[in-house]
Amino acid sequence: MKLFRGRVFTPVADPFRGGDGHPYIAHDDGFVAVEGDRIAAVGPWGEHPPGAEVMELGSDALITPGFFDTHLHAPQLEMIGSYGGHLLDWLNRYTFPTEAKFSDPKHAEVIARAIFDELLRNGTVCALIFSTIHYEATDIFFAEAERRGFRGIIGKAMMDRNAPAALLENAKESYDASRRLLLKWHKRGLLRYAITPRFAPTSTPELLALAGDLKREFRDAYVHTHISENTTEVLWVQELFPEAEYADVYDRYGLLDELTVLAHGVYLTEEELDLLSRRKARIAHCPNSNLFLGSGLFRLHRVLNAGVVVGLGTDIGAGTTPSMFTAMADAYKVQQVQGVSLTPVELWYLATLGGARALSLDQETGSLEAGKSADFLILDLRATPLISMRSQRATSVEELLSGLIFMGDDRTIKNVFIAGREVWGRR
Ligand code: GUN
Ligand code: ZN
Repeated sequence: MKLFRGRVFTPVADPFRGGDGHPYIAHDDGFVAVEGDRIAAVGPWGEHPPGAEVMELGSDALITPGFFDTHLHAPQLEMIGSYGGHLLDWLNRYTFPTEAKFSDPKHAEVIARAIFDELLRNGTVCALIFSTIHYEATDIFFAEAERRGFRGIIGKAMMDRNAPAALLENAKESYDASRRLLLKWHKRGLLRYAITPRFAPTSTPELLALAGDLKREFRDAYVHTHISENTTEVLWVQELFPEAEYADVYDRYGLLDELTVLAHGVYLTEEELDLLSRRKARIAHCPNSNLFLGSGLFRLHRVLNAGVVVGLGTDIGAGTTPSMFTAMADAYKVQQVQGVSLTPVELWYLATLGGARALSLDQETGSLEAGKSADFLILDLRATPLISMRSQRATSVEELLSGLIFMGDDRTIKNVFIAGREVWGRR
């Protein structure tokens, strides 16, 4: 057993729901005990178990759960900051040409190394990831996630209309390639497979039906797609599928359950929210992307009050950074302009335990609690002069977290552990 001694902060319950108990545990001088891949105990230093090796981190270190990015596109890493135009223009002008490059496995290898470097450097221990339509590129993303010890939920994008020819496949071939990747990678170590139809507009009814068939065959696989991000997109879906609202389109093909994560959901109707709640489908809120593409303002409490579980995502490359600090900061600002002030504890929950819950992994990870996987970060409260000043003057744990949310970045992440193994660190 190994003891990590420093400041400790972890969410332990949903702060948006009263009655779930006190939402967090914090110790100014605390410990996290790690045994193998598990957390053995967490508590104030005065109660630490005797006889174990101690890592003295000091009072400038904060031990906290790793971050969960519930929606990103690994292949879009190299096109971050591609400016001008809203969603559909942006897809045609930048995204599809960038994704077409992934027919070349050599290119996929370069980007795969880069994306997991970036995620780990930024303290992300788990992410739900879009690949492109390409079998080999997707295989490479999985292999790199495994090599790095990353908790990845990855899927091959499925697309069979309304994109350049280089990114279109036959629906049956898309199904077959997805199925082969699923059989190879789903539940191998920390990895999981997500059945990934890109979104309704790039899917024929046949493709969605085959994605639904795959989900029926593999009930414990994830489903990952987009919904109601942009008003022009929503109108287009009404033209393409006149018989149903956007969420109904996915529901008709059996694609909504508690392992479904839908990115964005900015323009969902009351009826759609009710459907998602009944199906227990999740929303990945991506505030940085919604601002960058000018998509709109997500109404968080409307979605939470409907009973829909929400996680936070970066949505790289429409999102402009892999940093979940920025995701938290932008989530705050998007609510702030709508008259709602989220607390630092609520934001930290969304980036950690709430993200794990959105990915149905909260029994296994997402918080520092005995029995869970040892997935945690050591943050450096002296990472920059400003963070140092702010942290030293913080008079409460909320103040400390708030400074980190708005000023934290990759320099703040000192060490990253997944399943007890150090997967990233700076000395
Ligand atoms: N909708 C369909 N594809 C995409 C994508 O790549 N990025 C974003 N932000 N929205 C999408
Ligand atoms: Zn996306």
